[in-house]
Amino acid sequence: MQLQDILFSQGFGTRRVCSGLVQQGLVVVAGVVVDDPTADFAAAGLNFKVQGVDWQYHEKAYLMLHKPAGYECSQKPSTYPSIYTLLPAPIRQRGGGAAAGVQAVGRLDQDTTGLLLLSDDGKFIHRMSSPKHHVPKVYEVTAKHAVDDKQVQKLLSGVVLDDDPKPVKAAACVQTGPNQLTLTLTEGKYHQVKRMIAAVGNRVEGEGGVGGLHRSRIGSLDLPADLKAGQWRWLTGGDLAAIAGSGK
Ligand code: URA
Repeated sequence: MQLQDILFSQGFGTRRVCSGLVQQGLVVVAGVVVDDPTADFAAAGLNFKVQGVDWQYHEKAYLMLHKPAGYECSQKPSTYPSIYTLLPAPIRQRGGGAAAGVQAVGRLDQDTTGLLLLSDDGKFIHRMSSPKHHVPKVYEVTAKHAVDDKQVQKLLSGVVLDDDPKPVKAAACVQTGPNQLTLTLTEGKYHQVKRMIAAVGNRVEGEGGVGGLHRSRIGSLDLPADLKAGQWRWLTGGDLAAIAGSGK
């Protein structure tokens, strides 16, 4: 694949811009400046530098983000900054056109923190977010009022939410502190955790009235302890295997 096409596919701008980056000597492959935009490389796994920044070629992008509080999972946020501003420009521009860049797999509320997956692979996004596939998602919940066994049992046996008469059940629910629960859900209804907790007479609310909801795991993939809020990283083959084996 020509170097200018590799850069184009990875979101470094139009073909003209990519060709210009190479011609200006701003692209390094295997430690050597390559100034011929048509130079041919095997793209798979290629490591290169653009303007001093290390990149690796990814045919499709699969990433995880530790979503901080105070960000919206929308390309056009209304009140808070967009999570997409936490990603480098090439990842936001991959593929070009109207549907450029990666998309979040489902959404977390503005005040929810934790594990969020993003990709530009439509099939992967569909599989991960489709209610049919039942990929389990684990949430650490802090409630305003003390949690009791009755609430836990109700969450496990099913509660009715306002938009559907069919009860929704937690796949697992464990009390982890006086006001804390670990809740596992296999659907992804709008504000589902908050509405389920409200349906048992409690309220998701962290200390000082903020947040209270953190997603710690999707399928068998845990949010890594060393990925700080606001940081992202590529998913490894092992990460993808941990998610691919989840759900139905
Ligand atoms: N359920 C919610 O209520 N909010 C989230 O952000 C995720 C799940």
